[in-house]
Amino acid sequence: MATDAGDPIPRFPDGFLWGVSTSAHQIEGAAEERERSVWDVFTAEPGRVKDGSTAAVACDHYHRYREDVALLAGLGVDAYRFSISWPRVNSPGGLDFYDRLVDEVCAAGVRPVPTLFHWDLPAPLDWLRRDTAARFAEYVSVVAERLGDRVPKWITLNEPAEHTLLGHAIGAHAPGRQLLFDALPVAHHQLLAHGLAVQALRAAGASDIGIANSHGPTWPASAEPADVAAAGFYDLLLNRLFAEPVILGEYPDGTAELMPGDVAADLKVIAEPVDWYGVNYYAPTRVGAPGGADSEYGGLTLPAELPFSVREIEGRPRTDFGWPVVPEGLTELLTGFRDRYGDRLPPLVITENGCSYEGIDDQDRIAYLDAHVRALHTALESGVDVRGYFVWSLLDNFEWAEGYARRFGLVHVDYTTLERTPKASYHWFRDMLRAQG
Ligand code: FCB
Repeated sequence: MATDAGDPIPRFPDGFLWGVSTSAHQIEGAAEERERSVWDVFTAEPGRVKDGSTAAVACDHYHRYREDVALLAGLGVDAYRFSISWPRVNSPGGLDFYDRLVDEVCAAGVRPVPTLFHWDLPAPLDWLRRDTAARFAEYVSVVAERLGDRVPKWITLNEPAEHTLLGHAIGAHAPGRQLLFDALPVAHHQLLAHGLAVQALRAAGASDIGIANSHGPTWPASAEPADVAAAGFYDLLLNRLFAEPVILGEYPDGTAELMPGDVAADLKVIAEPVDWYGVNYYAPTRVGAPGGADSEYGGLTLPAELPFSVREIEGRPRTDFGWPVVPEGLTELLTGFRDRYGDRLPPLVITENGCSYEGIDDQDRIAYLDAHVRALHTALESGVDVRGYFVWSLLDNFEWAEGYARRFGLVHVDYTTLERTPKASYHWFRDMLRAQG
């Protein structure tokens, strides 16, 4: 990969927030000490997870969190993004765990940044039902009451787009539904849950609130009108459908008519002002007209009925997951957001960025992160207001339908012994943070 690696990374503004991210279902384990989530149900079904694994133990972070917080402290990050498991909070002792974790993170001099929903919905609940949004707000109030005195920054939801599309439209993730466009209420109810959660957090005195949405540039496969139209549709579905209700208080291009309930009233709640907007970035997507598709993409099989097809981005290095490495896609995404939303755009935070590679001497990960941090700096230089950057992930972990086959961590986890070993990228990130000062 062509990088400027070796030259010092340019300085970021004072107060820029550097962090790492994880999520509860992917690292905690201790599944028998909490209620079941839709992911427990899904992974128990044969064939759902590629290596047949489950997250019942995962990294056993629930029992080893002190060791993991020490790794955070050694890294020298400003902030730690983790998620709170709603099924655990519903279970005896669940909130006590997050209480201990938050204390430990604070004691290490790191700011805790919890995500309140990272896909592990309590198994009895269902995002097709509007009531789930109200239940979420109740749960958020309980968590905020307990942790609000120590948590400086909150994230409502992680990637409602993926949870809708992978989980409910094509069935590759929990709960494994294949509803195609009938999954749209799942998007609306999660967005409503986000707005209600912002209200609940404010009512509990919280002041620094955002959402983590996944975004990426969409590149038409060619200049043919059919490819350009398909790419525009994909951009609508992945980017605009989830950004615009939050940022503008509107659904894009007539999609409001497809949503359930009193959409105009709900949009007022969904657009409850956030303090910042989180972007998870991995790669752009090249999209063309239906047919001629690579039906296998990044580990997913896309149904032929979709009005677009995803094509290979050629001539790029690939991560072990098969995702193309396109650092300048991050600059394009961020400047594109600024151009699209102008003054309406809240400050941005990169809430996830990272890559899957094997090995402890992970020079490919270093090259990926180095190039993406530089691409982020280019966006700042061109005037985009970005306030923070979180690497996905602190630890190797349970990568959803891929099981343990994909290693995104700065720290290697041996899943037999549960031993943690910092990788070369851990030392690289630590040194970069020191150089930033
Ligand atoms: C994101 C998810 C995160 C992790 C990374 C690789 O879509 O938010 O949990 O799986 O991808």
